[in-house]
Amino acid sequence: MSDEAEMGPVMCVVGARPNFMKMAPILRALDSHEPPLPRVLVHTGQHYDQAMSDSLFRDLGLPHPNVNLEVGSGTHAVQTAEIMRRFEPVLDQFNPSCVLVVGDVNSTLACALVAVKKGVKVVHVEAGLRSRDRGMPEEINRVLTDQLSDRLYLTERSALDNLLREGIDAERCVFVGNVMIDSLQSNRERAKPPAQTLGAHGLPTDILQHRAGYGVVTLHRPSNVDDPTVLEHLLRTMGEVAARVPLVFVLHPRTRANVERFGLGHLIDRERMAVLPPQGYLEMLGLMADATLVLTDSGGLQEETTAFGVPCLTLRENTERPITVEQGTNTMVGRDREATLRTVADILAGWGKQGRIPEFWDGHAAQRISADLAGWLLG
Ligand code: UD1
Repeated sequence: MSDEAEMGPVMCVVGARPNFMKMAPILRALDSHEPPLPRVLVHTGQHYDQAMSDSLFRDLGLPHPNVNLEVGSGTHAVQTAEIMRRFEPVLDQFNPSCVLVVGDVNSTLACALVAVKKGVKVVHVEAGLRSRDRGMPEEINRVLTDQLSDRLYLTERSALDNLLREGIDAERCVFVGNVMIDSLQSNRERAKPPAQTLGAHGLPTDILQHRAGYGVVTLHRPSNVDDPTVLEHLLRTMGEVAARVPLVFVLHPRTRANVERFGLGHLIDRERMAVLPPQGYLEMLGLMADATLVLTDSGGLQEETTAFGVPCLTLRENTERPITVEQGTNTMVGRDREATLRTVADILAGWGKQGRIPEFWDGHAAQRISADLAGWLLG
């Protein structure tokens, strides 16, 4: 029997929406490695809605998970603990060669922690990103997951400095590029036209024909949407942006719930603002690709807009993805109304950031991972 055949499977974990587009190319690369690397897919069920999970699995051609832990929503403690409790017997059942986690969601940390305590190697894809904002749940997940990891795959070179500063051995770290961009490249041809996306929800498509084009908005960070004053301020600013360029607002369930709870519905019920529920991957790619600009607090959209060369305004004070600002199309505007309107005006005047594609954001990051992983696991 070959070494690969004796090897336990690579246990790949997904939980929440941003994990799915990162994992899809990794699974394909493991399968197409010569010889294929055995793998199993575990979905924690952190995201469970049709719109937040199932439709993305379909769009991305992800295989049906071997196991779904069906944890659902809860406080951070409950969600994390529940994932850990349900993941442990799955590790016992499959006896994997390693647990491979992606990104920075609660599922990432929970499964890494269970694995390391059971002596199973942990592999982290998208390691070393730091916002230096410990108030952000994802930052805690990033720092701790990296500390627990045996092999760390980096999307940008600056991540290595962060990891070295935290005492992580450089030999564990490999700069491979961005698997999220692998997904974008392999799916961009299939992106859904924006008019079709709006039409599917019975929304008029004339806003897409405006001479300024249209902008795309997403907001879901607790720091932006959980406080009524902050959310109201941001929605009022979005209203002012909409007066200059019509907006397509893709509303996350957390944000929708808070808009309703705080009685702010009138701020998004505007003529020049089309409000959509969470969209599939191909719909989002289509909306972004044709947009004049994107306003967001998402990490993934900061990267995807850089890959598309579409100007992005990040509605946060910090980013864990500095390369999108240094080389890409990203501008940090925080919650600053003036900075937002000024940047929008610049973009509409034709002075938006053009950016360039960062090193190794070339569609082959997952292949670099599978090649390295095979050598590392067998070595
Ligand atoms: C999680 C991630 C965040 C990521 C985001 C993408 C953590 C700490 N946060 O945040 O990094 O950017 O996913 O969406 O892991 N809900 C649904 N349907 C679902 C899932 C959630 O309606 O399928 C609602 C629930 O009311 C839930 C709320 O959305 O309480 C928030 O979901 P949760 O998974 O706790 O965090 P996100 O804000 O989605």
